[in-house]
Amino acid sequence: MKNTFETNIMESYNKKASERDSSNVQDWKVKEREVFLRYIKAEKHNSLLEIGAGTGKDSLFFKEQGLHTFSTDVSPEMIQLCKEKGLSADVMSFYNLDFPGGQFDSIWALNCLLHVPKADIKGVLKEIKRVVKPSGLFYLGVYGGENSEGIWEGDHYTPKRFFSFFDDESLKDILSEFFLIEYFNVVPKETIGGKFHFQSVILRNQ
Ligand SMILES: C[S@@+](CC[C@H](N)C(=O)[O-])C[C@H]1O[C@@H](n2cnc3c(N)ncnc32)[C@H](O)[C@@H]1O
Repeated sequence: MKNTFETNIMESYNKKASERDSSNVQDWKVKEREVFLRYIKAEKHNSLLEIGAGTGKDSLFFKEQGLHTFSTDVSPEMIQLCKEKGLSADVMSFYNLDFPGGQFDSIWALNCLLHVPKADIKGVLKEIKRVVKPSGLFYLGVYGGENSEGIWEGDHYTPKRFFSFFDDESLKDILSEFFLIEYFNVVPKETIGGKFHFQSVILRNQ
């Protein structure tokens, strides 16, 4: 049973799936993949779960690098696009990951956890932690730099999407309740071209 946040966000992204599929991945996001790839190669990881995978472009990149990937997203339209790319994929919310504990060496989550209300974020992090192997790695990338949450009234998606943002210290505090922070980097607003900077974090399950 989905909550209202999951139902609304699923509807918003279902409608934008093909438009998002036809857009190019920005250079700074390509670099993010490469940073995490270096970590997972160094640790000889085999499996990678992507949550909030969208159209599956990042999963495809990691699959082409030799990882056994599994892509999940709450939007059926997004998962259809993942499957069309030949990816193993299933509709699934990161609130309830349908996997046994310790299933994956690594997790990739790019710009999806910013749709989780602050009241729910610890529950979602706990669920992610459950499915990563002990000492496994979790990449989290989100826009942030200030503490705020709510519906983005200027959004052109329908329904308008809910976003939650953290300043760097608040994000580190919450994450370190569950994981060891191995790497924390900020991509500046000027590179991204928006109101927020981007927080790039690599976490180790402990
Ligand atoms: C901004 S898009 C990012 C997609 C992809 N990671 C990328 O970087 O292109 C956010 C994605 O998170 C998914 N999402 C939002 N809430 C989710 C949830 N509760 N469980 C799984 N996926 C979710 C949306 O459907 C959407 O595809």
